[in-house]
Amino acid sequence: MTEQSYDGLKATSVRHLPDHVGETVLVQGWLYNMRSKGKLHFLLVRDGTGIVQSVVLRANVDEAMFEDCKRLTQESSLRIIGRVKADERAPGGVELEVEKVAILHVAAQDYPIGKKEHGPDFLLGQRHLWLRSRKQAAIMRIRDEVIRAIRGFFHERDFFCVDSPIFTPAACEGTTTLFGVDYFDEQKAYLTQSGQLYGEASAMALGKVYVFGPTFRAEKSKTRRHLTEFWMVEPEAAFYDLDDVMQLAEDFVSRIVGRVLENCRAELAELERDTSKLEPAAKGPYPRMTYDEAVAYLHANGHADFPYGDDFGAPHETALGAAFDRPVMVHRWPAEIKAFYMKRDPSNPKLALGVDMIASEGYGEIIGGAQREDDLGALEERIAEHELPRESFEWFLDLRRFGSVPHGGFGLGLERTLAWICGVDHLRECIPFPRMLHRIYP
Ligand code: 4AD
Ligand code: MG
Repeated sequence: MTEQSYDGLKATSVRHLPDHVGETVLVQGWLYNMRSKGKLHFLLVRDGTGIVQSVVLRANVDEAMFEDCKRLTQESSLRIIGRVKADERAPGGVELEVEKVAILHVAAQDYPIGKKEHGPDFLLGQRHLWLRSRKQAAIMRIRDEVIRAIRGFFHERDFFCVDSPIFTPAACEGTTTLFGVDYFDEQKAYLTQSGQLYGEASAMALGKVYVFGPTFRAEKSKTRRHLTEFWMVEPEAAFYDLDDVMQLAEDFVSRIVGRVLENCRAELAELERDTSKLEPAAKGPYPRMTYDEAVAYLHANGHADFPYGDDFGAPHETALGAAFDRPVMVHRWPAEIKAFYMKRDPSNPKLALGVDMIASEGYGEIIGGAQREDDLGALEERIAEHELPRESFEWFLDLRRFGSVPHGGFGLGLERTLAWICGVDHLRECIPFPRMLHRIYP
């Protein structure tokens, strides 16, 4: 690994400083905060991996350098050379005894994000700077850990990563949330709502696959749980039935939660996440109930007026999620409210072999999945019933013409999962640059 060096020293990440106690190191970052007291400056320096208190003692540095530090403003960029000292009271357990400060840039005085509270609209307009705040950076580091856990999990289980197209000729998840794009010669294309259909084709080529990429939904409602652009990871496996899909979903989510608990303690603490509420989800089994059982539970627990056959709204998901200390999987849904590609339950054709995973603590649905319709005739009927343009789906029907097998998979929403793990109310803080009904800036 090549690291940047300066003055003959290689740069050390703040998060690795505890491994260098007693050594002189180079830290490169930005000033988060500063206090001065007579012969001392206390610089709080962040480098993206953490924050370290750096103590500049007048006696330890040259006079001009000590004076120069007085010019420093929040977000000024600097290089610090100093000795790492263990200090139990310091965040991260270490402090720097500064030997040299090199100022790269003194930031303008009027950094828009102060220490006081700001409203969400203001902060979203400053997202390019807001990302530097401790909480936002902690969420982004957890996002990275979740992505690593996702890729590692599938790699270990012999799922191949395939990439599906963003421009697609037709809908996957209903026509009401499609984003249309002009695509040469008056042809219409749509931004993908889900990579699933291409995942199915790839699973017939490679056995077990996952698609992981951005997906788009023209959601016209302003809610805490909807973005117009979000990331979805979608495993798809040949020879899987609904039970296999549910087992995979449970193993997958418990692994992700386990990895975050293991590797992101400091970030979860920064977010003041009550990890005792998360710990049960790091282990299976997750409770499973049919849609019918879920409706009976709602009827008996404060939602007596819920109409059988409807999709669950946020209050219903919250009630179901609150019933357990870990995510719950609801399976076998009324076919009318589910997508065209779901296989019907052979023991009751009114039901679709779909599954939703609902997170605990009111975070709602994080996974939607199903066993797929693998019979050519049945799928042709569904496409007609849903009034989908048959010619756009010929290739999808081919998968049922040439070596059709039972198969299934699911889609996990990355930002929904992250919001739950981080204990953050709103999805907009769970993606670097959120896209919503009224926001595409910055
Ligand atoms: O339940 P959905 O619509 O399922 C599918 O798209 C399937 N084709 C997936 C598959 O079987 N391969 O979406 C899956 C997940 C949801 O459970 C939710 O976590 C997330 O994607 N999601 C959204 N996240 C943020 N903003 C939105 N507008 C979302 N819509 C769905
Ligand atoms: Mg869904």
